[in-house]
Amino acid sequence: MSDDQVLIFDTTLRDGEQCPGASMTVAEKLRVAQALDALRVDVIEAGFPASSPGDFQAVEKIAATVKEATVCALSRAKPGDIEAAAAALSPARNRRIHTFISTSHLHMKHKLQMEPHAVLQAVADSVSHARNLCDDVEWSCEDGTRSDFDFLRRCFEAAIKAGARTVNIADTVGYTLPDEFYELVTRLRNTVPGMEKVRFSIHCHDDLGLATSNSLAAIRAGARQFECTVNGIGERAGNASLEEIVMAIYTRRDSLGVSTGVRTEGLTAISQLVSDITGFAVPPNKAVVGANAFAHESGIHQHGVLMNRGTYEIIDPETVGAGGSRLVMGKHSGRHALRARLDALGYVIGENKLQDIFARFKEIADEQKILDDEDIIALVETSEGAARARPILHNLQSEVSANGSARVRVEIARGSEISVASASAQSSFQAIADALAELLPGGQSLGAISIQNANGTNMPIVKASVSLHWPDGHRSIGQGASPDASVAFARGCLAAYTASRAPDKN
Ligand code: KIV
Ligand code: ZN
Repeated sequence: MSDDQVLIFDTTLRDGEQCPGASMTVAEKLRVAQALDALRVDVIEAGFPASSPGDFQAVEKIAATVKEATVCALSRAKPGDIEAAAAALSPARNRRIHTFISTSHLHMKHKLQMEPHAVLQAVADSVSHARNLCDDVEWSCEDGTRSDFDFLRRCFEAAIKAGARTVNIADTVGYTLPDEFYELVTRLRNTVPGMEKVRFSIHCHDDLGLATSNSLAAIRAGARQFECTVNGIGERAGNASLEEIVMAIYTRRDSLGVSTGVRTEGLTAISQLVSDITGFAVPPNKAVVGANAFAHESGIHQHGVLMNRGTYEIIDPETVGAGGSRLVMGKHSGRHALRARLDALGYVIGENKLQDIFARFKEIADEQKILDDEDIIALVETSEGAARARPILHNLQSEVSANGSARVRVEIARGSEISVASASAQSSFQAIADALAELLPGGQSLGAISIQNANGTNMPIVKASVSLHWPDGHRSIGQGASPDASVAFARGCLAAYTASRAPDKN
């Protein structure tokens, strides 16, 4: 693994689940663990086996199921905890014991009621006990950022000497500031003997809203693992959020110079999964995965995005699996966005008519915050000399058998009017063309098709170019695109159909 690779240690199922109201059943935890594995996080902290029989069972099940990631279990610096972690992890392909103890005076005195020398001894003992049961051991200092530097340094040294492979500093109460954290990580990396042999990790909480900034500062200072949770769920104000740090590293790789192994296009889906399971709604303005992360309402922004997405978006929504930018039609929206929305809905509308529709749109938007597609269709179809919509693909279902023959059901929409046809043929493309021929008058037949996979994106997009032959001998060509080849083809057919016919202008 290169020095530029930062590992992701996800603790949604342990620290994330610790927040009030977020508890998950074993089956739910398993679903999240599988999704995290598919996302390609490096380490999944599955739970704290000594804390309850349910947690033990969840860790054991996850350990038996996860295929790629290292499965990790938490333990205090106590032999019984460490043994429970090792036992629960035994089915895992790759496993890690994560043992921790507090190192701040406040915690040592009031929580542990231990003298510093006893804590130092516990660091060495817990790590070596864990190492006897598991090759991969991580040691963490709880409340590390409020600890005396010299004592902290000695604890790190003891953990490394006892065999920890990863050493982690926790900003348990989200107290540190980015410049302080940068300094602390740098000092520890420069002064603790043996540091060059281990991976330096950080674990930030968001009490001051600084978890992402602190994590990035530590990565700049050389940390090569960050601990995080999906949607930033966790104790109190939460943990550092996985999607924010991953996308900051991805978007600002020019400045940070590091990368992660995450399949970024799965970020939106896993955020929704965790939100559905925990019942914790994702705020609309949440960075990267919030419903408004790629939504634009103001006319100026909408016009900018229509001209060039980069004017107001630094992340391509496809990169995080968010589908696309969304132009929300509301009172701040402009004519360009309305025209683009009408176009996507299949309406071909002249300038004068657009003027009328836009005036009515503004009146309604003043009272009703947002106009959805149905509102806009109603607006067009109730306007004087209603525009006739061109056909757009509304739904496509297909069943393909092993020999390639297919049965399809195609729905097309023209404004609010939906029509449906089914067809069977030797290939799904032919079946789609037959069904469309039934829905679209004119006697056209399928000509050449060319299908291409667009390269260079995380999510492969199929592009179809379709030509149609018309009874009078002319040909028309249209293009369609979609992650699915049949949908791309159907869109290509409809575009070719529209291209051949004089648009129903109003
Ligand atoms: O916040 C914290 O200190 C923790 C430790 C167990 C790493 O979650
Ligand atoms: Zn924590």
